Amino acid sequence: MSANLHDLPTPTLLVDVDVLQRNIEDMAAYADRAGLALRPHAKTHKSPAVAALQRAAGATGLSVATVSEAEVFADAGHTDLFIAYPLWLDHDRATRVRALLQRATLTLGVDSADAARRLAAQLAADAAGIRTLVEVDSGHHRSGVPPEEAGLVADAARHAGLEVGGVFTFPGHSYSPAAQAAVAAEEADALKRAAASLRDVGVEPTVVSGGSTPSVAHTHADAMTELRPGVYVFGDAQQWELGTTTPDRIALTAWSTVVSHAGGRVVLDAGSKVIGADRPAWATGHGRLLDHPGARIVLLSEHHAVVEWDEGPVPELGSRLRVVPNHVCNAVNLVDELVAVHDGVVVERWPVAARGANT
Ligand SMILES: Cc1ncc(COP(=O)(O)O)c(C=O)c1O
Repeated sequence: MSANLHDLPTPTLLVDVDVLQRNIEDMAAYADRAGLALRPHAKTHKSPAVAALQRAAGATGLSVATVSEAEVFADAGHTDLFIAYPLWLDHDRATRVRALLQRATLTLGVDSADAARRLAAQLAADAAGIRTLVEVDSGHHRSGVPPEEAGLVADAARHAGLEVGGVFTFPGHSYSPAAQAAVAAEEADALKRAAASLRDVGVEPTVVSGGSTPSVAHTHADAMTELRPGVYVFGDAQQWELGTTTPDRIALTAWSTVVSHAGGRVVLDAGSKVIGADRPAWATGHGRLLDHPGARIVLLSEHHAVVEWDEGPVPELGSRLRVVPNHVCNAVNLVDELVAVHDGVVVERWPVAARGANT
């Protein structure tokens, strides 16, 4: 198994196992100190091997985004799963959810009375084995009902025969410079109002779930029972630029080769087909170089990353550099395996088993 990094083909996604383990343990300790359950979002790593490390450090279960992600993790023995998504069950999904119930404990997201009634109708007798959480919008304005309407959805779900366990939100507007503390306060306020709305219809919430990697350090623990960060496990250039992680905490990089010096710049073989194409308006480039913080990826195409160098002589042709993707979840979804590295030596290969599991 052991191979030197310089023998690997490029581009390859590397995971530094020491940094990964530190990220996992620190988040577990943070949740523990706050008195909150940790249910990391597995869409970031899509890897049962990484999930096993999270669970060994104390994660109570996993969050996933799709039924097919739930299938992959359940097959690998991770059987306490929350599909943190406003599910609309068509016939195919309902058949698969029913089958999943034979091997996993499921919590499902709903964000309308119609979706709750449909869920109950599609699952019929099996609906009794499922817990639902009502999704509320805490300011990201993606999915989720206004907090005051959580009770209406909960009431409809209950009358349709579903168990309602509580509420959840994703404060995704934390992905903006300097927004994190304010967003965490909005999240807490929304969750408190949503919990009150459930109580108004006679449902006592036992799960109040939130969290995003940028805002997690500002969590209001009194407003919730559970955290669901995902990106924290690897870190990425977005977190680095938001100031919510530091380069020494970034575990995943794309190992890449300098293939050209065209135009006096450094051209790498890690393009959008391995690091992904995400670039928020506030990002300073298409990704960063872990060991060269002043360099900027100014142009990205499928197999080229063009880097402007600010540090004297450019690295020689054939040199190897570590590229930090802007958004690690999308980079991971582009490869079949992650290469785990310790002290410059390959120690394991982890299949991205839920790669492309979008349905
Ligand atoms: C519903 C939901 N929960 C949790 C997360 C995890 O947040 P982050 O990716 O910031 O770690 C996400 C991320 O997109 C999400 O959509």
